[in-house]
Amino acid sequence: MYIVRKNIHGKEYYYLAASFRKEGRVKTKTIAYLGKTRKVAEEKKKELEKERKKEAEKPEKRVEGKEKKRIVITNIDDLATFCKRKGFVYPTAEIYGGLAGFWDFGVFGAELKNNIKKEWKDFFVQEREDIVNIDGSIITHPKVWQTSGHVESFKDVSVICKKCKKPNKIEHRELGKAVCEFCGGELDKESAKSLNLMFTTQIGPLEKTSVKSYLRPETAQLIFTNFKQVVENQRLKLPFGIAQIGKAFRNEIAPRDFLFRTREFEQMEIEYFIMPKENCPYKIPDIKVFVYSTEMQEKKKEAEEMKISEALKRKIIKRDWHAYWLSNCLLWFRRLGCNMKNFRIRQHPKEELAHYSTDCWDIEYRFPFGWKELLGIADRADYDLSRHEKFSGKDLKMFIEGKGKILPHVVAEPSFGVERAFLVFMLEAYEYDNKRQNIVLRLDPKLVPIKAAILPIVKKPGFVKIARKIYDELKKEFNVFYDSGGSIGRRYARQDEAGTPVCIAIDGQTLKDSTVTLRDRDSTEQIRIKIENLKEIIGRVIKGESLLKLGRIVKTRVK
Ligand code: GAP
Repeated sequence: MYIVRKNIHGKEYYYLAASFRKEGRVKTKTIAYLGKTRKVAEEKKKELEKERKKEAEKPEKRVEGKEKKRIVITNIDDLATFCKRKGFVYPTAEIYGGLAGFWDFGVFGAELKNNIKKEWKDFFVQEREDIVNIDGSIITHPKVWQTSGHVESFKDVSVICKKCKKPNKIEHRELGKAVCEFCGGELDKESAKSLNLMFTTQIGPLEKTSVKSYLRPETAQLIFTNFKQVVENQRLKLPFGIAQIGKAFRNEIAPRDFLFRTREFEQMEIEYFIMPKENCPYKIPDIKVFVYSTEMQEKKKEAEEMKISEALKRKIIKRDWHAYWLSNCLLWFRRLGCNMKNFRIRQHPKEELAHYSTDCWDIEYRFPFGWKELLGIADRADYDLSRHEKFSGKDLKMFIEGKGKILPHVVAEPSFGVERAFLVFMLEAYEYDNKRQNIVLRLDPKLVPIKAAILPIVKKPGFVKIARKIYDELKKEFNVFYDSGGSIGRRYARQDEAGTPVCIAIDGQTLKDSTVTLRDRDSTEQIRIKIENLKEIIGRVIKGESLLKLGRIVKTRVK
């Protein structure tokens, strides 16, 4: 890398440049703006080189198989550090030392989280005819949680590690078998305590008359308690689903791994109701994934990669409905850019099934800390509706022409954790680019917090005027960002780290012919287009079209 002096409109500017070979020719690329004097430029160059060296020494992990080599996250704490630095996620109330299991989402994080929820709702509710969406309360009648079985059964065992003294969360069946999840030490069986995970609260400010209730540990129950009214209001016909996105709270014994196990989180859940024994009328999307059945687990076999439809044919997955929902949930992740090699489906062995479930498949993800549950798809049959019927004394049955009154079955309950999905998208997207020497967040444009950044090359009035006009126009439709501070290289790097798919540069030529350059995040290649086409092009990029292909269409590609 070397310093280049440029004379622009009679003034000197210094830049950092590098030469590289492309198709047999030596080319020069400007990397960063260094300042207006050689002395400042030399100091800045040294600083930049030091920073780049530090970044380049970060550890590497390669995705297995034939995947291209990528430098990605190998430790979840590195992701937490990155998320804090870029304003995605902070420990809550950090000025007071934080609070275990609680996190706050910064500007980029809040945006990304909202985009995840929007994409989920679009895919599972809006784009379908058979699913509707509700929004239930966080605190509800305490009888709901008695009826659902949560008061009696929603428990984990806390056991203290003999070595590191930390409390561990284990399930009852693991007592005597599990080792400490923090240090691998022996767990003290004598210290085992069975604890309910629900947060309690008092309804009513007067102690004498207040009633004990709970913060909901899942959104699902509100779907069951509102079932009859939603069915009648919407005139629903089986099969159908009721969806809900909202907060859930669990007083976890050992919150850990950044956003993976927290005490406050959000769920995106669907209860999918069918006539008992009814078959799935829908086509099963073609998804290939690692399949890990109970039989494979018992026989200590490896998970086998196969199409979900094949797993159904071979009766590894018993019900067509389960195959259908597993495929659709995976398809949602694949559609948003995830690599299916990092996903597997694992069936719950009998002793692992929740108190309400007759069969359950988890979709697991290859997290930096191992294969772990990303979401669960349980078959709840008529457990919930029949219990609520019994304990409320209300008839929750549907009247079906020719069949009479029936209580529908929940054949699948796809239950997503928003924060776990957030982690997956970040892990899939995060990449340290050796050539650029900065992190590039290759998030799907639908998910990215900022859709485009508007960057005047220099802060001169003519450039700024046009840039601000573009910004004012675009912000009416997209979440865009205006940045005129620092070298263009640094500004590109900042946007790469936020995942911004398009950077719009306003340069000398803009002043002459009302065109701007658009820089593609993934390739760094640039196209030049007319300002009047910006809205359309950005809209199409967000919908999934390639910026470079669009550039070829407008045929004004920059050499
Ligand atoms: N209604 C079914 C139900 O709640 P679950 O397996 O207990 O099932 C569903 O939870 C999903 O909620 C999990 O797969 C996970 O994505 C998310 N989740 C559960 N506990 C969590 C926690 N402590 N922190 C973050 N996400 C959690």
